Amino acid sequence: MARRRQLYEGKAKVLFEGPEPGTLVQYFKDDATAFNNQKKDVITGKGVLNNRMSEYLMERVGQIGIPTHFIKRLNMREQLVREVEIIPLEVVVRNVAAGQISQRLGIAEGTQLPRSIVEYYLKADELGDPLLAEEHVTAFGWATPQELDEILSYALRINDFLTGLFLGIGLKLIDFKLEFGRYWEEEEMRIVLADELSPDNMRLWDAQTDEKMDKDRFRRDMGGVREAYQEVARRLGILPEEVQAEAAAEMGQAPKSVH
Ligand code: TMP
Ligand code: ASP
Repeated sequence: MARRRQLYEGKAKVLFEGPEPGTLVQYFKDDATAFNNQKKDVITGKGVLNNRMSEYLMERVGQIGIPTHFIKRLNMREQLVREVEIIPLEVVVRNVAAGQISQRLGIAEGTQLPRSIVEYYLKADELGDPLLAEEHVTAFGWATPQELDEILSYALRINDFLTGLFLGIGLKLIDFKLEFGRYWEEEEMRIVLADELSPDNMRLWDAQTDEKMDKDRFRRDMGGVREAYQEVARRLGILPEEVQAEAAAEMGQAPKSVH
């Protein structure tokens, strides 16, 4: 593909100008960061896996009528998305206590929450993404009350849908983070799901063993990060062939190739 203009570089992805106005190319890096960039590493192959998993999950979410920014996957690491105005919120949905809510409120990890809890954090690395009350969101105009209603309703629908989808492949959806954007279709503004859906932004535990199958393996130095992501992709039935071949080669199972 011809050289494109880079518009934005985030911690795990890069956005380039798309081939047509109103589109962007979202490139998935292998970089992993945690704790607001204090911990950094490269997980070889993560970008390829997340690109594929995010494609699959965004398409599935789209099928239940939730608009998303996703248009199509372009190659191993890139997807074409709609250009949206990102709402500066991290919308976190929690089903089981883990991470911040366990630390902040002293609830043991693994405790089933009385109901799904939706939280809003301000997307502001320099402030450490602070937790917000709805009042902050609307008073400072980060989203209108109507937008927030729609975001909440989408977040809960996505939670119900993904909880069932993952349970069907033996994974518990503990929590996840969403980002939304504003998209103008003619004169109408629509809220659409943006960013990505991958084990970088969700906690997934094996339904039988509670083994962690997500980015907590990286955050907590547990090792086996790529293997866990691969296993999630495999259970989703979408492990990229190239990755499968590579994994097999590492285990000495690949047919001899001619160089
Ligand atoms: P937390 O327990 O650290 O608040 O994380 C809740 C969920 O949100 C978890 O699945 C990881 C995800 N998350 C992100 O995707 N990005 C972030 O910056 C943070 C803090 C959490
Ligand atoms: N992605 C965030 C960071 O890089 C936080 C996290 O996922 O733990 O700081």
